[in-house]
Amino acid sequence: MDFIKSPLNYTGGKFAILPQLFPLFPKTINTFLDMFAGGANVGINANANEIVLNDNLVFLMDIYSDLQSKEADGIFEEIEEIIKKYKLSLTNRDGYNKLRNDYNKDKTPILLLVLSFYSFNHQIRFNNQHEFNTPFGLNRSRYNKRIKDNLKGFMGALKNKNIIISKKEFNKYDVSVLGEGDFVYCDPPYLITTGTYNDGKRGFTGWGEKQERNLLQLLNELNSNGVKFALSNVTHHKGMINDILLEWIDSKNHIVHEIKKDYTNSSYHAKYRNGNETKEVLITNY
Ligand SMILES: C[S@@+](CC[C@H](N)C(=O)[O-])C[C@H]1O[C@@H](n2cnc3c(N)ncnc32)[C@H](O)[C@@H]1O
Repeated sequence: MDFIKSPLNYTGGKFAILPQLFPLFPKTINTFLDMFAGGANVGINANANEIVLNDNLVFLMDIYSDLQSKEADGIFEEIEEIIKKYKLSLTNRDGYNKLRNDYNKDKTPILLLVLSFYSFNHQIRFNNQHEFNTPFGLNRSRYNKRIKDNLKGFMGALKNKNIIISKKEFNKYDVSVLGEGDFVYCDPPYLITTGTYNDGKRGFTGWGEKQERNLLQLLNELNSNGVKFALSNVTHHKGMINDILLEWIDSKNHIVHEIKKDYTNSSYHAKYRNGNETKEVLITNY
């Protein structure tokens, strides 16, 4: 299977495990809701009558809306112009910082996309004031052919598939409109690991026990309505155990599929060699 890769090297991105996830998803889907879309690696590859990409990181979703509304050639030209204007390179920190200041003034989506090409680990991170604050990726991050190819494939799918962009808090999403034949994929921040978006200090909601329980409640509601769902998570990590999740799985008799992979190219999950392994799972109600 050939999968489309997000042009954003998104923290917690699921591209590397797509070959394990997709065979576990339902074969025919009416609406595919990617509730915590992030880099959209999962939703963009879905085959369904309708695909909804949802994430509460509004500035991220604005990039997708922008890409969807413009021609690919125009986007590539805009990117080249921005790179020229700010003289972006592997070493020009001042140019990067100038672009970052300008983006934070009016939040033009394409500027954020270009920032992500040159930012440290390509990370997209905001502070409490909703200012993008990832530092420069000196000698490491830049726009190149690989990113351009990914962007091309990604934009093609954004236009050719029936994709809807949504910017809601997961618990404000009206799931009562979903029914049998629809499918919800959830890849939330993980309670027992730390990503930049779940420390509650980024101006967005953060992720703690309250959010975890609310999400499980939402999945219960989907289950009662006959909607299929799949939840990505880790149950064990660095000696920590997600008891809330394990108890819920037991009480509902959901199915746990173990994911066999470490994130070799990501700082999100380190490799643990001393028995302190991360157990990554996909939990389904079907
Ligand atoms: C693990 S990432 C998803 C990665 C994605 N599956 C991929 O492959 O690129 C989790 C996402 O959840 C989003 N998120 C966090 N809290 C949220 C909330 N309360 N409502 C909606 N989205 C939220 C974050 O902005 C982040 O993009």
